[in-house]
Amino acid sequence: MPPTLTDLITLAKQAGEILRSSFGQHLRVDHKGVIDLVSEADRQSEQFLLSHIRHNYPLDRIVAEESGESAGIIDHTWYVDPLDGTVNYVHGLPIYSVSIAYAEEGKLHLGVVYDPMRDECFSAQTGAGAWMNGKAIHPSNAPDLDHAMLVTGFPYDIRTNPDNNLDHYAHFALHSQGVRRLGSAALDLSYVACGRFDGFWELRLNPWDVAAGGLIAIEAGAIVTNMVGEADFLFPPQSILAANPLIHPLMLAELQH
Ligand code: IPD
Ligand code: CA
Ligand code: CA
Repeated sequence: MPPTLTDLITLAKQAGEILRSSFGQHLRVDHKGVIDLVSEADRQSEQFLLSHIRHNYPLDRIVAEESGESAGIIDHTWYVDPLDGTVNYVHGLPIYSVSIAYAEEGKLHLGVVYDPMRDECFSAQTGAGAWMNGKAIHPSNAPDLDHAMLVTGFPYDIRTNPDNNLDHYAHFALHSQGVRRLGSAALDLSYVACGRFDGFWELRLNPWDVAAGGLIAIEAGAIVTNMVGEADFLFPPQSILAANPLIHPLMLAELQH
């Protein structure tokens, strides 16, 4: 039996509870790079999620941040980010989430992003819509950049790769109502889905960062593409642009410069 949206919601909330119960405590933190961190909480949450998925869906493929990719049927793929917003989390900043998506035959089918601090659960099912705690959500209707609040993020190789998004950041900071940097791409996308932000873009993310939030934004009614305007935002080289249908073409035009 394939998983249901309720299965993903239950799982994300259980993993969220693991994160919430350790939040603010002194945790072991390792460095994957100078500013790329992994904490004990990432590992505990991922261990919980992977053991549940492997036990209940033993043939499925899992693409998860801390343990990489497991073999399995490519037609049944899980994308798992056990803690999106690790840097916030280790600093005690309560902006982080659990992100889980399920794809069938290469197409996203189910997505859940859970924020344990606010008990906000964003979810979507292809063709059926998107919800926050069970209530249908939709993007904003901001008509142009002068009325738009945007959000972005920066890649972990910001110090060494000149393609580091600071140019786009500077442009949009001058041409919108403001640009935020929350530190959880999954929440950034969910907030575009429910109209808290009008647009989000980021370079060089990974599939586990964007699979669930991207589906939630699409099903809510936002336009989601990669940075060159193609629908396929899940495959490398990863980049993403999600915005309400009025703002999306305006942002795309700038990002293609
Ligand atoms: C990160 C967050 C952040 C984004 C980074 C991601 P992580 O994920 O989504 O907002 O700017 O590019 O890698 O490492 O906290 O799971
Ligand atoms: Ca992430
Ligand atoms: Ca993560």
